[in-house]
Amino acid sequence: MSRCALVRGAMSASSAMARLLLFLCAASGLLLAAVAAIPPPEEAARMARYVLHSCDWGALATLSTQEGLRGRPFANIFSLSDGPPGPCGGSGVPYLYLTDMEISVQDLEVNSNASLTVSLAQTPYCRKHKYDPQNPLCAHIIFVGSIVKVNDSEADIAKKALFTRHPEMESWPKDHNWFFAKFNITNIWVLDYFGGLKIVTPEEYYSVKP
Ligand SMILES: *[C@@H]1O[C@H](CO)[C@@H](O)[C@H](O)[C@H]1NC(C)=O
Ligand SMILES: *[C@@H]1O[C@H](CO)[C@@H](O)[C@H](O)[C@H]1NC(C)=O
Ligand SMILES: *[C@@H]1O[C@H](CO)[C@@H](O)[C@H](O)[C@H]1NC(C)=O
Repeated sequence: MSRCALVRGAMSASSAMARLLLFLCAASGLLLAAVAAIPPPEEAARMARYVLHSCDWGALATLSTQEGLRGRPFANIFSLSDGPPGPCGGSGVPYLYLTDMEISVQDLEVNSNASLTVSLAQTPYCRKHKYDPQNPLCAHIIFVGSIVKVNDSEADIAKKALFTRHPEMESWPKDHNWFFAKFNITNIWVLDYFGGLKIVTPEEYYSVKP
């Protein structure tokens, strides 16, 4: 049984024990994070999970509703998280913390369809290997789907995922009516090697062990 599976099992046992294990897991995560191996390129679904979990933010494209830009693509940066950092947290679900005061979120209220891109160029990996961001070896993933608000029980999971990686979020102005949302993935493209894009289905994506 993996360390992560142990921790998940312990969560249902005594909570003190679970907290201790979670601490150990987080501590070992700090060590493992440095050496966690990138999946081989033939495992495209695992690659997609790996890249998303390695990234704290992404570029989100909406269809603009702004005067003068209506219907045109509009890409913007958003903080995201699929779970606490380290090897134990990744759910594969990109969670976001949004307010309808935000320009792209106003687009989503009219049309929730969107595209999200994340890249290992956002991590030390590509710099270390001297891969240009446009080089496929600097793996990047393109998700297409829609943004949906999460219900109250999923909001607890989203909050933990986001606030552990983006502690500043807790102090964002309360009167901006922040809410938790997720990217509802319908299509996935993986660019991680030469020879063209690979298509991964959401079913494959969510069923692999990252
Ligand atoms: C969003 O995309 C889906 C799939 O292509 C499409 O059926 C739907 O009409 C789109 N929604 C809007 C509001 O355009
Ligand atoms: C909340 O959403 C999750 C994920 O979609 C779902 O599994 C769960 O049943 C929902 N809970 C309620 C109370 O609707
Ligand atoms: C996610 O998108 C699919 C395909 O457009 C849609 O059928 C489904 O209802 C969406 N899920 C949610 C939670 O909105």
